[in-house]
Amino acid sequence: FSGVVRIPCVVHVVWKTAAQNVSQAQIDSQIEVLNHDFRATNGDIGFVPAPFTSLVADSRIEFFLATEDPAGNPTTGVTRTQTTAASFSSDDRIKSSATGGIDPWPTDRYLNIWVGQLGGGLLGYAQFPGGPAETDGVVILHSGFGTNGTAAAPFDLGRTTTHEVGHYLNLFHIWGDDGTGCSGTDECADTPNAGGPNFGVPTFPKLSCSNGPNGDLFVNYMDYTDDRGMVMFTHDQAARMEACLDTVRTGLPA
Ligand code: ARG
Ligand code: ZN
Ligand code: CA
Repeated sequence: FSGVVRIPCVVHVVWKTAAQNVSQAQIDSQIEVLNHDFRATNGDIGFVPAPFTSLVADSRIEFFLATEDPAGNPTTGVTRTQTTAASFSSDDRIKSSATGGIDPWPTDRYLNIWVGQLGGGLLGYAQFPGGPAETDGVVILHSGFGTNGTAAAPFDLGRTTTHEVGHYLNLFHIWGDDGTGCSGTDECADTPNAGGPNFGVPTFPKLSCSNGPNGDLFVNYMDYTDDRGMVMFTHDQAARMEACLDTVRTGLPA
């Protein structure tokens, strides 16, 4: 694509307790975070260490709650489903009404975002492009979603959704998913080779895999730091997302 792409989203809130039935304000806060993060207009971008600032990219992708439902009728772009399930896992049960969740809207036309209670410390998960249509989209823990309401520190800046939408648009973890080894790759030439994931909020420079003097790009959205520690995508990551939207996910942009 040239210019800016705008992706219609549907947020499926699947709740058992009243608190899990997250507010419209919490949903709106997440859409706002996505729009800042994917345009590199996030207010905390100054957290990028000086040697890495030339890597910061505007992905030119924006997001909005769908205004038209699959039948062409006006919609808020939010569905709300009460469930008897105490929690969900990465087994996709949240994505089907037959298993206590709710079916997606046509995944070729909408980015489906399920929000609910997840177990086992799971903050969220995503399906990469090219997978089965009926499970396509991202799933986010309600307390890691948005910046208000049930959002809880240190995952209360909406970055879990930024990270999962990165996967949804074909981005791999920045350390190459090879455990802590130095042979994995995220297929992006401008991200330094890194050992394993970083947690918390590291201090610059964080060295691994002989990647001195600047070390790991731990401020990247595709690392595992706390929300306040992840603030940027790189040019090569933006190019991978653009390629995804130009090929596998062509039906998406409004
Ligand atoms: N564990 C998740 C994944 O691998 C997401 C981690 C998101 N991290 C965060 N600070 N919000 O997809
Ligand atoms: Zn991930
Ligand atoms: Ca690695």
